[in-house]
Amino acid sequence: MNSFITNNEGIVLKYIVGTDDFSIVGEVSSKIKKVLKQLNIDNKLIRRVAIATYEAEVNVAIHSLGGYIEVEIIKNEIKIKIRDNGPGIKDTNLAMEKGYSTASTKARELGFGAGMGLPNMKRCSDEFKIESKFGEYTELNMKFVV
Ligand SMILES: Nc1ncnc2c1ncn2[C@@H]1O[C@H](COP(=O)(O)OP(=O)(O)OP(=O)(O)O)[C@@H](O)[C@H]1O
Ligand SMILES: [Mg+2]
Repeated sequence: MNSFITNNEGIVLKYIVGTDDFSIVGEVSSKIKKVLKQLNIDNKLIRRVAIATYEAEVNVAIHSLGGYIEVEIIKNEIKIKIRDNGPGIKDTNLAMEKGYSTASTKARELGFGAGMGLPNMKRCSDEFKIESKFGEYTELNMKFVV
């Protein structure tokens, strides 16, 4: 974990996600999963959060220049923000379509590139927002009701 803040409202965790290192992809989402287990959050909810954060982590690692995942756990809600440093997405509606992928040959050889990550994140979360500025950044915001 790269930072941890706790106050009356809840807990905020922040993890840096690197780029292009396939050997460690998935480590951040499994750390998040571990924390949620320690907090005794419902297993079904943990599974949904774990899928969504894993897909987001992979996307940052294979499509972006790196970024971070921030998890805010408050009384009735888990909020997750994933922000990266570009290159951004030209057409987010197109990126959201099932099966759309620009994954590299290297990423495809490792089993990524089905074009299902973003649709899965939307399906698993209770609220999903994607925002991107082409050439600059991509930011996802998800909410899960506890
Ligand atoms: N953080 C990001 N930065 C830049 N482009 C992205 C990012 N996340 C997604 N994209 C673009 O959106 C497309 C669709 O993403 P999605 O996660 O649905 O599929 P995928 O990553 O290509 O394949 P899969 O997730 O099934 O392994 C990507 O191929 C890429 O073009
Ligand atoms: Mg993906």
